[in-house]
Amino acid sequence: MHILKMNSVILLLVAIFAIGNCANSDWWKTAVFYQIYPRSFKDDSNDGVGDLKGVISKLPYLKELGITATWLSPIFKSPQVDQGYDISDYRVVDPLFGNNNDLTELIKEANKLGIKIILDFVPNHTSEEHEWFKASVNGTPKYLDYYIWRDGENKDDKKPPNNWLSNFGGIAWTYNETRKMWYYHEFAKAQPDLNYRNPDVVKDMKDILVYWLDQGVAGFRIDAVPYLFEDVNFENETATDKTKGVDPSNWNSLQHTKTLDLNETLDMIYQFRELIDEYNKNHTEDTRVIMTEAYTDFDKTLLYYGLKDGSRLGAHFTFNFDFIQSLSKNSSATDIKNIIENWFENLPEIYTYNWVVGNHDNHRIATRLGVENVDAIMLLQGILPGVMVTYNGEEIGMEDGEVDFDQRQDPQATDEKTFKEKSRDFERTPFQWDNSTNAGFNKGNKTWLPVSKNYINTNVELQNTTVDSHLNIYKSLIKNRKKISPAAKTKIEVLNSTVLTIYRTTETETYFYLYNRLGEPMIINNAGLNNSKILIKSTNSEKEVGSIINGTILVETNESLILHKDNPKDNGSFLYKTQPTVLIAVLFLIFVLNSI
Ligand code: GLC
Repeated sequence: MHILKMNSVILLLVAIFAIGNCANSDWWKTAVFYQIYPRSFKDDSNDGVGDLKGVISKLPYLKELGITATWLSPIFKSPQVDQGYDISDYRVVDPLFGNNNDLTELIKEANKLGIKIILDFVPNHTSEEHEWFKASVNGTPKYLDYYIWRDGENKDDKKPPNNWLSNFGGIAWTYNETRKMWYYHEFAKAQPDLNYRNPDVVKDMKDILVYWLDQGVAGFRIDAVPYLFEDVNFENETATDKTKGVDPSNWNSLQHTKTLDLNETLDMIYQFRELIDEYNKNHTEDTRVIMTEAYTDFDKTLLYYGLKDGSRLGAHFTFNFDFIQSLSKNSSATDIKNIIENWFENLPEIYTYNWVVGNHDNHRIATRLGVENVDAIMLLQGILPGVMVTYNGEEIGMEDGEVDFDQRQDPQATDEKTFKEKSRDFERTPFQWDNSTNAGFNKGNKTWLPVSKNYINTNVELQNTTVDSHLNIYKSLIKNRKKISPAAKTKIEVLNSTVLTIYRTTETETYFYLYNRLGEPMIINNAGLNNSKILIKSTNSEKEVGSIINGTILVETNESLILHKDNPKDNGSFLYKTQPTVLIAVLFLIFVLNSI
């Protein structure tokens, strides 16, 4: 009897231990992914460009923010024509950022703090300095078809093979004097497109994914996915309906039926997912994930998640760029509601929502919508179900920096006339840590892009010590959103025509988000708000965190709040509040005790 009991207790302990150590397969579904733009985050070596040691030194900051994972824009060997999106060796860290050991250390140290590291995988193109391209140019048989090579139109060397345009502007073909053929590049001419119809290319690229998975990364952000395949017949693209006034060398002057979102492209993303799923199946750690970047139509965006019925899966999520592309200074509360509901109505239930506010390719939210709306958009992003993606600096409300034409770095904007409109340098200026030289980004050496003059007023150090700061609001948001059950129901309403209202409700509690979008100060009468408490408030709010609201509240112009209230029906049910793993352990204990 005694031995029996001992055995049972050991069994029980093993079971609890096993449950506790189960890989977390759903961690990403409510995660906060924080994008680090390494060139501009923290420059430890003081050479003017951020580096991995710099990121390591800021891990405590990331921990304090409460984020789940960070994705790093490319840090691999590269001539840096497109700031690292032109890779010449996918397995080696560029000396500009440090070395492979630094990356190993970063992964290890970040994991210790519970932060996962996601890498940026750039599959569409390599750098022209990649060994594969050099071998392809020189006619090495294995590499002849690694890229998209064509003769000129009618074999005329002077005429490109067709009218395809580069995303960065101008014709997407460049003539190579050595090979005496044209090669295709969706982006800069230093970024030749790989040929995904060549199985060796596919294999090589998949091997790179596995290589980094083996190094312990939590997954990949996959760059520029819609462009992987091009029409096999190389037919011309047709002009858009609205070509009037559009510069004919501008990518938007054509419809991209021959170069964008081809079925084979979707299939390749599904193949990448199969690889990740297979990897996950054979490994016990937390799920590795992929997230894809696809600027495309809404219907196509959904397909990057996978097929509607889930019979083929794509990315764990594909970035939802609506808060970047569809929100403007004039968007009303109803416009925002419509943007969100479009996702609720159309994303198949098996997939996970995600909300992206900014990235290194778009003007910062503070510049796009005004600093006074930064908190509101962050809180909105955080209250919604699903994944939240933050671009470094948004948490302190950084605005676009000031960059002159002669300080330019972005290959997309080389023409002075269109520089202001096209350059992405503005959103890439160095991170603002404090009010010391160069905003604490480095120790004073000239920075690759100028530090914004705003750093004196907008920096981490200052906001850490200011109670009502964007940063403290962000931290409070991240902390509180972890408490919202993923199963909480979501309802959206526009009250009094300008107050965007979101309810996240479970049987036991409700979170309310209120945002007076561009309206006059507005009194909201809503019995549902009775006894709710202010949990978070925007920096422009005069209200007090912790104060109790009766059914009436005045919401000022641009003010945003998150309120919380316990549901009166809550009877404190033990079963309801208990984590499933604990519940299983308790049931198991009852079972064991019963059987001895
Ligand atoms: C993606 C990147 C962008 C880069 C382009 C080409 O859109 O986000 O920065 O220029 O791909 O790689």
